[in-house]
Amino acid sequence: MPYDDCMSNTELDRAALHPLLTDIILGPDLGRASFGGPARGATAPRWQRVVVRPVELRGERRLQFSHFDGRQDITRNCDPAESLAALEEILAVGFANVHLTTHAEDIDIRTSKKGKVFISRKPTAPSAPAVLAHNRVKDVPLPEGRSNRLLEVMGILTRAGQVRPTMRAKYTQINEFLKQLSHVLDDAGLATLGRPVEILDCGCGASYLTLAVHHYLNEVRGIAARLIGVDVNEDLIRKSIERSERLGAARLQFSCERIDAAAVRPDVVLALHACDTATDDALALAITAQARLILSVPCCHHHLNGRLRAEALRPLLRHGILEQRTADLVTDAFRALILRILGYRTDVVEFISTEHTARNLMIRAVGGLPVGEAGFVREYRALKEFWGVTPYLETVLGEAAGGFV
Ligand SMILES: C[S@@+](CC[C@H](N)C(=O)[O-])C[C@H]1O[C@@H](n2cnc3c(N)ncnc32)[C@H](O)[C@@H]1O
Repeated sequence: MPYDDCMSNTELDRAALHPLLTDIILGPDLGRASFGGPARGATAPRWQRVVVRPVELRGERRLQFSHFDGRQDITRNCDPAESLAALEEILAVGFANVHLTTHAEDIDIRTSKKGKVFISRKPTAPSAPAVLAHNRVKDVPLPEGRSNRLLEVMGILTRAGQVRPTMRAKYTQINEFLKQLSHVLDDAGLATLGRPVEILDCGCGASYLTLAVHHYLNEVRGIAARLIGVDVNEDLIRKSIERSERLGAARLQFSCERIDAAAVRPDVVLALHACDTATDDALALAITAQARLILSVPCCHHHLNGRLRAEALRPLLRHGILEQRTADLVTDAFRALILRILGYRTDVVEFISTEHTARNLMIRAVGGLPVGEAGFVREYRALKEFWGVTPYLETVLGEAAGGFV
């Protein structure tokens, strides 16, 4: 049967609503439930929206309830008895719109002004064949078959649930980036902050990474995270806002501005292929705001190209492509060293194989080390002298470099 032909839309007996919602939300197959729209119940609603999703905490399944009152959101993780009580409270509000996602179905329930209840159900988009799906579920943060709605809205999946061939590289990049984020978030002590983690995505473009991080942390890992995506491209920001609205992503904002104009103090700064010196702007913002964690995958570098002066290396610099590659490596070495001098435990890793992107180096930096260690400062000065250049990051940091570089 074609996917769309499976959809049904019928009136539901009001008395059946409560047991239906309780069974699904407290049952083992829940993916996500969201309640919103005008309240038709007896009580004055305290919340505009409520989202319920299963999370795993120390190996135990819990339900996470996130209540949004328009100004802030309050999230708590409930054991089975607490979940039942929390759900009864929500059902008493009588939200007009309920959207449920289970492993098998997408269910929309709408209560009309006259109190009639309409329900539409459709199977979730089919996933890849069982063996592949099983492997993917184990291996990647956003598996096909489990994250289909997000991937569809991102334009990565077709309506039939297949990754578009042209989007395979982006899909892989995002999954690999999420793996890195997931590991270091724990290391940086950000997974248990007791408040939402504030994350900035610099040069977010069409917001693949922004949407994916928002979904993965809030919905899969159960870590409350608020994201802001910034980009100078107005069209892309408009498209990103549309996508986040389609997803009902509550802790997500976009801003059309330059990275160096963003007035924010994030805990985490991300930059995936922010062009040329936009990567330095992202690093400078993170350092100035004392962000705890930085994950940056640099893109093209132009600033040092043509400026490197190292007499002994003239034979290497004579060839354009070798000079370009050298400038890339030198730029990233300067960046990593500046971060280390300014108190970040920094390493540079290949986060993905070159088959998916030629720009595959990631700078990972976690704050908390002593600032201005003499040995690193000496190395930095020697490196500058050797190449005869001043890296852009030093210039853009200005006083924020504290006189160390
Ligand atoms: C190669 S795209 C990467 C987009 C996205 N991070 C991704 O990986 O899909 C680089 C983006 O950075 C944005 N950009 C470049 N310089 C910027 C700056 N100084 N401030 C804000 N955005 C910038 C561009 O508009 C573009 O959307």
